[in-house]
Amino acid sequence: MTERQVYMDHSATTAVDRGVLEAMLPFFSEEYGNPNSLHAWGRRARKAVNEAREKVAALIGADASEVIFTGGGSEADNLAIKGSTSMRKDKGRHVITTAIEHHAVMDAFGWLDKQGFDVTVLPVDDKALVSVTELEKAIRPDTILFSMMFANNEVGTIQPVAEAAKICRDRGILFHVDGVQAAGHVPFNVQDLGVDMLTMSAHKMYGPKGVGGLYLRKGVRVEPIVHGGGQERGLRSGTENTAGIVGFGAAAELAVRRLADGSIDEEARLRDLLIKRVTSSIEEAFLTGHPTQRLPFLASFCIGSLEGESMLLRLDAAGIGASSGSACTSGSLEPSHVLLAMGLAHEVAHGSLRFSLGKDTTEEDIVYVAENLERIVADLRALSPLWKTRG
Ligand SMILES: Cc1ncc(COP(=O)(O)O)c(C=O)c1O
Repeated sequence: MTERQVYMDHSATTAVDRGVLEAMLPFFSEEYGNPNSLHAWGRRARKAVNEAREKVAALIGADASEVIFTGGGSEADNLAIKGSTSMRKDKGRHVITTAIEHHAVMDAFGWLDKQGFDVTVLPVDDKALVSVTELEKAIRPDTILFSMMFANNEVGTIQPVAEAAKICRDRGILFHVDGVQAAGHVPFNVQDLGVDMLTMSAHKMYGPKGVGGLYLRKGVRVEPIVHGGGQERGLRSGTENTAGIVGFGAAAELAVRRLADGSIDEEARLRDLLIKRVTSSIEEAFLTGHPTQRLPFLASFCIGSLEGESMLLRLDAAGIGASSGSACTSGSLEPSHVLLAMGLAHEVAHGSLRFSLGKDTTEEDIVYVAENLERIVADLRALSPLWKTRG
């Protein structure tokens, strides 16, 4: 085991920031009131939830009344997709999404398909970009919803959200955006973008896990998927996770500061340093996703003739936490649907690696990761028959 620990998997999750944790702590103990109670304990908890709602709304340029707290990004995606189609199913049963969505969206569309909806899945190009021309072509008179992610969690490509929003608005179609990877990391304003619904998740921006939010533009109606006590304007029943929501609010406040103070530019500088180093010093290593239109904290690669998993294990042994695009399900290694949708061959997609930087990543961390990756790739290739016999 090495002494040095370099966490480079912030797309998977982030550590709760110290200040965020401090804001949350009282709501586990002395401020334990139920926000729905009328007494002083309840009123204080309600005030804290309302303040958090203001902060989350401010991050994305929404009104506080347009933010619904949920139990995470996956739940917000499900609420947007199932809730809006349930409300509009009499207007039409055609829905559109893309080939590179997170499973929370992909599988919600799979569920719609089973309910008798007609699902169109838009392709992407080799940089994981969705074409708005393809979207226009796919729209039919009975189309009721389009859902597209803001930025991809595996390769970081940022989509043409404003252009897609305009098309949807002109054609009277609801537009949902999974903004889990972008919110807090890419500056945007939901009013300027013109989206109808946008998903966020606290744990991707130095907040706690299990708390998320759905921006619901005023006037957009969705059917709840969790029924009960009628919290969150009746759209998400269940006693509010007060501490978690307070943490989300504090994380949103932190994100607003980071978006304004140049932290994001520094993150992008370090990301570019890693990209340059890996692609110039490792043979047959290339960047995946869009070269410029990408998340400031994410660098993803495919490394020729190697398996992502074997590189990950070696990186882990060197104290480096990264991830790969393959999901190991029931013993079979399936390459990522994102890389395959980008047109990469199975064997190339198997060699994928993702490094996602965070607010505490330093230039020394980048150098440490690059040096270790170079060494690991050389070691593994020395053992690889694939590498030795390649044509
Ligand atoms: C793009 C995207 N959407 C949705 C989710 C799910 O969010 P949560 O983990 O809060 O359920 C994730 C998490 O990895 C994600 O990256």
